[in-house]
Amino acid sequence: MHILLTGGAGYIATHTCLQLLAAGHTAVIVDNFVNSKPEAVRRTEELAGKKVELIEADVADRAAMEAVFSAHHFDAVIHFAGLKAVGESVEQPLRYYRNNLDTTLTLCETMAAHGCKRLVFSSSATVYGVPDKVPLREDMFCKGCTNPYGWTKYMIEKILQGVCNADPEWSVVLLRYFNPIGAHESGRIGENPNGIPNNLMPYITAVAAGRLSHLNVYGNDYKTHDGTGVRDYLHVMDLADGHVAACDYAMAHSGCEIINLGTGIGYSVLDIVNAFERVNGIKVPYVIGPRRAGDVDMVYADPEKAKRLLGWSAKRNLDDMCRDSWRWQKNNPNGYEA
Ligand code: NAD
Ligand code: WQD
Repeated sequence: MHILLTGGAGYIATHTCLQLLAAGHTAVIVDNFVNSKPEAVRRTEELAGKKVELIEADVADRAAMEAVFSAHHFDAVIHFAGLKAVGESVEQPLRYYRNNLDTTLTLCETMAAHGCKRLVFSSSATVYGVPDKVPLREDMFCKGCTNPYGWTKYMIEKILQGVCNADPEWSVVLLRYFNPIGAHESGRIGENPNGIPNNLMPYITAVAAGRLSHLNVYGNDYKTHDGTGVRDYLHVMDLADGHVAACDYAMAHSGCEIINLGTGIGYSVLDIVNAFERVNGIKVPYVIGPRRAGDVDMVYADPEKAKRLLGWSAKRNLDDMCRDSWRWQKNNPNGYEA
């Protein structure tokens, strides 16, 4: 298959690109580098031993996207491009709605105009909002999101469901990712957040590297086994494999499917800290602090539908995630900067 990856220079997309190339597919990347570096794509090519066409453009730029689709016949598109920082979305809601919705609308219009109607979309477990119960199943009613970022994903899911309802030739897979962490086992590509990380694992690796003094654990009075928040952490390489399976699925079916990509296992903040320390032999000092606004006790997936429809389930365990996250950080203290 010849596949377009929007936002293809980003964290999840580079790992996915590697697995697509390994499976014999070819890839073209469009990215405006708002949250990534061309170096990530260069290293992906180096790891794969194959070339990828990299186009610098905004996915919301219709003329640029017309040119991309005029030059290529894509079998499918994976739409990763989007802004993703929850806190930033609360401060800059218009920027988030504009970017995440415009990229999707422009992409789908251009795809339809060129007869390319197979799409895999990066949605998120954030659309479940504050869940009534776990594990989370795709058919649960989503009562609403807790931040503008989450609403963009929710709205895009609705837009893409509408597109499929209107035209039965479309095939869309809405992948609801849980908490991706880890990195390629080479330590050459990984997550590269700007400034102080928001998410747990990049924060832990920054503490382990000595860039930050300690981890602030956001609350230990949740209804969980040790009082700290429980999430479904998923190795980014497993997530990448899930995209390869989703592309195969989109080729063989039509309509719109929502599919969770998670392990089905919940780990607490302290489980992660303990595993990281044990696997890597490094202390991660932490301080228990107040809860973070908008956080919930427990989020983990029911992964049964992914197994049934895609034949996919996560293979890597928490030790792999902790080891690979640290290898990436240790080998690349400045991320993709020299
Ligand atoms: P990322 O920031 O590393 O990747 C997103 C990429 O999109 C970046 O390379 C960025 O430069 C690019 N981009 C953003 N707006 C663009 C635009 N207008 N035109 C062209 N390129 C643009 O993030 P990621 O963690 O790899 O996430 C990929 C996707 O998965 C995002 O849509 C994100 O919302 C979603 N997602 C991420 C997580 C997570 O925890 N990382 C969880 C659920 C869903
Ligand atoms: C995990 C746990 C925190 C940082 C977010 C987005 C979600 C999705 C994935 C995109 C929680 C605790 C964290 C810290 C801590 N992204 N924590 N100290 O909040 O589950 O999900 O990323 O779609 O939309 O909301 O992930 O890594 O921020 O937090 O104690 O410094 O770690 O309270 O229990 P979250 P996270």
